[in-house]
Amino acid sequence: MLRVGIIGLGFIGHVHYKAYRALKDKVTIAAICDIERERLDHPGAILGNIDAGPDGVDLSEAALYTDAAKMLAEQKLDLVSIGLPTYLHAKYTRMALEAGVHVFCEKPMALNPAECDSMIAAAEANGKLLQIGHVIRFWPEYGWARDAVQDGRYGKLLAAHFQRLSQTPNWSWQNWLLDSTKSGGAALDLHIHDADYVHYLFGMPNAVFSTGATRVSGGSDHLLTQYLYCGNLAVSAVGGWIMSKAFGFRQAFDLVFERANIQYDSTHSPSLVVQPHDKEPFSPEVSSDSGYDIEISHFVERILGAELPIVLTPQESRESVRLILAEVESAATGKVVAL
Ligand SMILES: NC(=O)c1ccc[n+]([C@@H]2O[C@H](COP(=O)([O-])OP(=O)(O)OC[C@H]3O[C@@H](n4cnc5c(N)ncnc54)[C@H](O)[C@@H]3O)[C@@H](O)[C@H]2O)c1
Repeated sequence: MLRVGIIGLGFIGHVHYKAYRALKDKVTIAAICDIERERLDHPGAILGNIDAGPDGVDLSEAALYTDAAKMLAEQKLDLVSIGLPTYLHAKYTRMALEAGVHVFCEKPMALNPAECDSMIAAAEANGKLLQIGHVIRFWPEYGWARDAVQDGRYGKLLAAHFQRLSQTPNWSWQNWLLDSTKSGGAALDLHIHDADYVHYLFGMPNAVFSTGATRVSGGSDHLLTQYLYCGNLAVSAVGGWIMSKAFGFRQAFDLVFERANIQYDSTHSPSLVVQPHDKEPFSPEVSSDSGYDIEISHFVERILGAELPIVLTPQESRESVRLILAEVESAATGKVVAL
């Protein structure tokens, strides 16, 4: 049994908790740390844009801490999951790696490439795994679409457009999300999901051109980017968190192939539809498992020594942070930014 620690029992910490609990034949949730004792005493009372849900959160068998260093010193853990605000990722990831445990750290990896480099160096120096929570790489519909791009079943891909829009997230601890110096704004917090998926599908672009808006965080709150690749391929993504409460949340994409379109919209049912040029539209069957469960299961299996396809590396996660900073720079300067 692997002994898991969770650091940060906020919104995503609850999602991690549920993902580990689903693996209870392989892991035990040995310890949980949150700086706010109240969150440990009343788990589940956290709101957010994804249904973390209050049901079934039972911390009675875990050792509870408000100090991560103490938890790492006292508990013999094999791995920790870090669900802390982004500005704390580098510090606590390094701390855990130096304590000799594998680390799953939420996306974005950190606020800038230098912080990411320090995390990669700590993983290498201590011989431990470091996986960043780029969950879209594991999301069943996005995985299905990637297979279609790679195996060419609908011909060549000509265009790809992504969208991720949310109501303003006013639910975070001390409102850290709405301080761009701590979160990187919607660009680094939200839009990075699609930028990283673009990176996953096509590699890093040659350059980006972005335009955007600032409204609530002092940074990038709505960003529209063209990813510039060589050849006959048009790629764009828009992401932002200044939609009204009534809008809620939507993630979506359109992929345009020579012989079909693939359309995904999280607010539609069915959400994934293929429209071939010469046949009736259909909705492919994909796993009903959540991407969060799949990514954490992947991490656990890697620790247990399974030989799995490489879905992401810490270096790629670092590059996705660099990509976002280039987009933000482009929006600020009005210029194409080369990568
Ligand atoms: N993959 C995804 O889809 C996804 C979704 C939401 C959030 N996230 C990422 O997860 C991270 C956390 O976001 P969130 O929405 O859960 O934030 P949150 O504000 O809901 O939770 C943060 C938690 O960390 C705790 N905390 C703060 N400082 C601490 C410290 N020093 N030691 C221990 N606990 C401390 C807070 O008390 C709070 O419970 C962010 O990096 C965010 O980008 C990812």
